[in-house]
Amino acid sequence: MSFDLVLFGGTGDLAWRKLLPALFQAFRHGSLPPQGRIIGVARDALSDGDYRALIARRFADVEGEKRPSDEEFERFAALLQYQRMDLSQPEDYALLARRLHERHADTVVMYLATAPALFTTVCEQLGAAGLATPATRVVLEKPLGHDLASNRAINAAVRSVFDERQIFRIDHYLGKPSVQNLLALRFGNALFEPLWRRETVASIEITMAEQLGVEQRGAFYDQTGALRDMVQNHALQLLCAIAMEPPINAHADAIRDEKLKVLRSLSTWTPATLLRDVVRGQYSTGTTACEGVRAYADEDGVAPGSTTETFVALRTEIANWRWAGVPFYIRTGKRLAAREAHIAINFRPTPHAIYRTPLGAANRLVIHLQPRDGLALHLFAAGQEKRGMRISEAQALAPVQLDLDFDQRFGSQRVGAYERLLLDVIAGRLNLFVRADEQEAAWHWVEPIMQAWAEQDARGEGPRPYAAGSWGPSAASALVAREGHTWMEEC
Ligand code: BG6
Repeated sequence: MSFDLVLFGGTGDLAWRKLLPALFQAFRHGSLPPQGRIIGVARDALSDGDYRALIARRFADVEGEKRPSDEEFERFAALLQYQRMDLSQPEDYALLARRLHERHADTVVMYLATAPALFTTVCEQLGAAGLATPATRVVLEKPLGHDLASNRAINAAVRSVFDERQIFRIDHYLGKPSVQNLLALRFGNALFEPLWRRETVASIEITMAEQLGVEQRGAFYDQTGALRDMVQNHALQLLCAIAMEPPINAHADAIRDEKLKVLRSLSTWTPATLLRDVVRGQYSTGTTACEGVRAYADEDGVAPGSTTETFVALRTEIANWRWAGVPFYIRTGKRLAAREAHIAINFRPTPHAIYRTPLGAANRLVIHLQPRDGLALHLFAAGQEKRGMRISEAQALAPVQLDLDFDQRFGSQRVGAYERLLLDVIAGRLNLFVRADEQEAAWHWVEPIMQAWAEQDARGEGPRPYAAGSWGPSAASALVAREGHTWMEEC
């Protein structure tokens, strides 16, 4: 099978950091179909040779095993071409068309790693230039809009040119091996299914904590914030993977139909729940572990007095028979104490205790997403009886863990998220991509939060400050403590 992959934004940050390295790894592993071209597109006047040289210089900085040898790079570079384009100019699309028509590849991927403001223009121009054929697939990077209306406008414009089957909306969390494992855990094993419900589950925690701040992206981030950047997409996709019903098969629409049902069942917000169940924070200068770190307000590109949130913690419920009444807690933030993403399923305690158990003890299944990818089942064993112990001490239970480390089990050289997603686009597999209606349902659900914050801002009630290097504002702990729960690091 032959393919052409046109990389709009071919000299941009995402191309350098994620896409070209992922394409190289796929090439190295022999998973890219053999007859391919990767055509970088940007405004700069570069020849094919210049583009290859630029990429060679970038790859030279890569450390460890991921760095290509000269010979490997030479072979990879043979796939690389460059097309200078001004994305508003129809003539430039005609030039691109000429290049693509030099040979008729079986699949043509248009990867839009550009500013989202350009998605509509690029799709319309591709259509006008006759480049939206049945062989074409279009890949859209997030953020797709900044609210429901702008998301709908982009989706409508893209769908006026491409069929939904041709549109691949990326949420890179869905490409992570740990998220694949989560689906396999639920739908490839019968063991947990009877327990996966309100009768046995007390609460669910989804944490996506980052240690980094906004880095070079202050200006972008200041317009975005954690709710749009992480909750609307990644966190809700994880929540769907946890809460969805078993799909009837593994086809894209069967999976996406089930995810959509979850998104539509999320509790609707009321003024009371918006106030009580959502915490927004912004990092200030650091704890001792983070000395020298700037407050968010002092980061480059951030507007003076900005009220953009770098932290969100919230509580929601899913209004259906399986989950009614079970709190789902979502927490994400920048400059937190650790880089750590996990989902904790907290089970209910035994209905009647005949042993002495530690306070608040109950079983818990932790799905570790990163930095380690694994599963830990927290159980209780008979306490270790020692000679001379009082009988009451000997009856106390001891916490133990069953631990599975997927990196160790399968090797840490597994296919990375972008590599997986790029290969799926080329192969036309939509399972790990987000459908328009899912995205719209997610925007619909976060919008009242954005509105409530705008009203709070108008009253001069901005986000709660938290020290860089901490776990966020104390209100986040109070949010879960109210119902007798704790975040995992507080246990
Ligand atoms: C991106 C966000 O989608 O996800 C970034 O825009 C964030 O702000 C990143 O840092 C986190 O991804 P990962 O894979 O490092 O957890």
